[in-house]
Amino acid sequence: MRALSSFLLLTIVPAAFAVKSQDFKTCAQAAFCRRGRALSARAQESQAWKSPYSVDPSSVAVSPEQASFVAAVKSSLYPNIKFSLDVRVHDDGVVRVRMDEVDGLRKRYDEAASWALTAEPTISPDVKWAVSKKDVRATYGAKNDIEVVVSYDPLTVILYRGGKAQVVLNGRGLLHMEHFRTKATGEEKAPVDAPADDSQVVMQVNNRAWFEGEEEDGFWEEKFGSWTDSKPKGPESLSIDINFPNHGHVYGIPQHATRLDLPTTTGENAHFSDPYRLYNADVFEYLADSPMSLYGSIPFMHAHSAESTVAIFNAVGSETWIDVGHPSATSTETHWISESGILDVFIMPGPTPADVFAQYTRLTGTPALPAHWALAYHQCRWNYISSDDVRDVQRRFDAEDMPVDVFWLDIEYAEEHKYFIWDKKTFPDPVDMMHDVEAIGRKMVVIIDPHLKRTDDYPVYKEAKELGVLVKSPGGENNYEGWCWSGSSAWIDFFNPSSWDWWKSLFITEQGDKWSWTESTVDTYIWNDMNEPSIFNGPEISMPRDNVHHGGWEHRDIHNINGVLLHNLTSQALMSRTDPPRRPFVLTRSFYAGSQRFGAMWTGDNLGTWEHMAVGVKMVLVNNIGGFSFAGSDVGGFFGNPEPEMLVRWYGVGIFSPFFRAHAHIDTKRREPYLLDEPYKSILRSLLRLRYSLLPVWYTAFRETSVTGLPVLRPHWVVFPKDEGGFSLDDQYFLGSSGLLVKPITDKGVTETSIYLPEDQVYYDYYSYEAYRGASKGKNVTVPAALDRVPFLVRGGSIVPTRERPRRSSMLMKRDPFTLRVALDTSGAAAGELYLDDGETFSHRDGKFIWRKFVASKQHKDLRIKSVDLAAQRPGEAVDGVALSNYNGANDFAKDIATVRVERVVVFGLSTKPKSVQVGGKELYWEYTPGVASDTKKQGTASVLVIKDPGVGVSSDWEIAVQV
Ligand SMILES: *[C@@H]1O[C@H](CO)[C@@H](O)[C@H](O)[C@H]1NC(C)=O
Ligand SMILES: *[C@@H]1O[C@H](CO)[C@@H](O)[C@H](O)[C@H]1NC(C)=O
Repeated sequence: MRALSSFLLLTIVPAAFAVKSQDFKTCAQAAFCRRGRALSARAQESQAWKSPYSVDPSSVAVSPEQASFVAAVKSSLYPNIKFSLDVRVHDDGVVRVRMDEVDGLRKRYDEAASWALTAEPTISPDVKWAVSKKDVRATYGAKNDIEVVVSYDPLTVILYRGGKAQVVLNGRGLLHMEHFRTKATGEEKAPVDAPADDSQVVMQVNNRAWFEGEEEDGFWEEKFGSWTDSKPKGPESLSIDINFPNHGHVYGIPQHATRLDLPTTTGENAHFSDPYRLYNADVFEYLADSPMSLYGSIPFMHAHSAESTVAIFNAVGSETWIDVGHPSATSTETHWISESGILDVFIMPGPTPADVFAQYTRLTGTPALPAHWALAYHQCRWNYISSDDVRDVQRRFDAEDMPVDVFWLDIEYAEEHKYFIWDKKTFPDPVDMMHDVEAIGRKMVVIIDPHLKRTDDYPVYKEAKELGVLVKSPGGENNYEGWCWSGSSAWIDFFNPSSWDWWKSLFITEQGDKWSWTESTVDTYIWNDMNEPSIFNGPEISMPRDNVHHGGWEHRDIHNINGVLLHNLTSQALMSRTDPPRRPFVLTRSFYAGSQRFGAMWTGDNLGTWEHMAVGVKMVLVNNIGGFSFAGSDVGGFFGNPEPEMLVRWYGVGIFSPFFRAHAHIDTKRREPYLLDEPYKSILRSLLRLRYSLLPVWYTAFRETSVTGLPVLRPHWVVFPKDEGGFSLDDQYFLGSSGLLVKPITDKGVTETSIYLPEDQVYYDYYSYEAYRGASKGKNVTVPAALDRVPFLVRGGSIVPTRERPRRSSMLMKRDPFTLRVALDTSGAAAGELYLDDGETFSHRDGKFIWRKFVASKQHKDLRIKSVDLAAQRPGEAVDGVALSNYNGANDFAKDIATVRVERVVVFGLSTKPKSVQVGGKELYWEYTPGVASDTKKQGTASVLVIKDPGVGVSSDWEIAVQV
């Protein structure tokens, strides 16, 4: 039996779940990546390697304000090819380095940054570049300790802090911007820049070989499988090495299924043999530990050490491969190889993680503040098959007292997969169905993909065709045709500005002159899938690279940016449906830097395995530090039928993900939470309720990220940047600034787990009030982790606001009272925040919200717990995008919830039983259970003081006096 079962495991299971690796290129199968890696290999072999790129000293031109400079760059191998360099320092200290070919045969794609950035950054008025015979340099920063040095020969750019190199561009001499050339025919291989004198030609050609290689590897055509990429522009790739000589850890560059602390791809013990790839792709049954590309790309990388954090954003839209190596434990080398585009690198000087997030989000925008309901539970499946099915699922949730906010419809709602058009056989009454869902404060999300069925009886296709906004085949003459869910399909080219207003008009719910979506409601929200784009019969399941977009750009130039435009336009469309606009919700699968401004993402088609559950936690964390916090993975796993234990653990992961959605493939068994047997069903109910009770914490964390860019989920290095013990941790994390430390269980049969505490502080188990004391150099503690609980602790010093009345939807919690958990720290103090607004409109931008701070502090031996108006103290920081000088504590929203109370205050870790607990001289009802005090080193159950119904409002100022 044993032999048989292990035989089954080895053969049948991997066969059922296996990525079709052959569908996707390795570096060795992508000519430009091969060339880039070969360049790096030649550099490593040669002692005398020197970058051929240098700045012409006579060309350096500093701007009149001295804040930026331009210079001519040339390569010693091609003296007649010209490049320009532009270096500038922004007012927040970010350095932007741009290089492009000038007067070339063609133009390189230079618009990637324009899609990612929210605005053209302002140049610092304080930076003054000083030009010398060998370099240009500038010193700046609050302490005047940052120095940027651009050396001429070879060209390098180095950012120093306190004299220590932080970021080095071209330090290894791997910069190579392949210039445009004409295709040499037959024997004749004269270089375009052939100098007059023949002997020089020979020398040049020979010299080029050491740098560019002996042959023109894949310059003019490239085959992969049955596809041929015609490459009409020839070679135009870009290679640059970016090194962090004093940082031993790098994080970021989502999306890959691997660890947070990026494993190496080069060096003796490289974890992966291929570089990390960024090329948005629909990877069927992807691997749980791999550098392969997935659905989205954010070319943003943090480099971290106990001394500082720095980061770079490489604004490129074409396929990019990134090698990562550690020449020593305290340094990192990276090598970025892109297929096309200009060099446009932003160097973020930090020096703290919070500084880096501020610098990055100042460039690409902070995450939008989502609608409050969007943080609740989403129920999805491919597919709820009819309007009665949707009603039935809703009924079952209600009958089982399980909260849910959103029901989702996958592609089968649409007749022949013509999105927007209902299949009336199964959805005869879509608007009535939606109203039935909306009656309980719920919403629906419906899928709209970017491929259009090519049939003239589909108004969306017909209008797009007539408007001339479809992507073109190679050559740019004909509309491209490919195969997707809807069969023979065409793709909208969102790079064409004519598509923008037209796309928005489709979502209008009222009848107009043209087609609009009258069979929908303003409570219907959108899911944009397949926007990499996914094309079933295309190379690597995507679009041919030589397809042509607006402006004549090839698909290869903009591939990684493609998805964000649809996301952007759909989110704008939802806002323009109503006047005044309501907050949009759009889920996207494909993404790029800046996507955080438009909605949520998920990690795509994961597998129902423990490995995928575990890597999903890491992927969501990486997305959070990639600036895109509103992330989640499919609860339950998209493929497969998880056993009950696995499904329960997956909900444990989901309730602690910013985006919380259950989803399942069409071939899987139904697995809505009410279908499970006991005890699993009751456990799921309580997990769902736990998520709902913590919605105030989530919403407050989203307010923070929408203002500061600090992620909603924070790995240890973000919160404790000096604590080396936490630098590689990626299975536990903090939720916003709330003080909640979470470690979801992603293994079978677990009953307890170890949680790392990074500091000499007390942490309390959320369920049992057990007090654990950390240590200044870090300490692991063992925490119970039975199936009915997700291990999570409240950091001493936090006050956590919750709402604990079970409801069917979050909308029905609007007037529910609050509980405050006051977790005293070792000094007997605590503080926490609560942000609330109407959750749906933009009235918070007119000052209609509350932002409270709760503070518990010692006064002599007594404890005072008070509520203060944080918005009045820090109006400029209160909400996204708008400085609120006119904030008024008595605003309409605050008035609207004036009767919402605090119904309970629970204090952990008080040292002795109080003599009295009062508000305004009136004694309150309270209970005290003795236990461990916050200021002792003992482990055990903390003392608990429960103050019942203190008679205070959540939006007003008050003070509770606990006399000890
Ligand atoms: C995308 O959204 C931004 C707002 O963040 C807007 O300014 C920009 O014009 C949009 N891009 C497109 C293609 O519509
Ligand atoms: C905590 O546990 C991890 C994993 O076993 C271990 O690597 C680490 O050294 C431990 N940390 C401390 C401070 O004991």
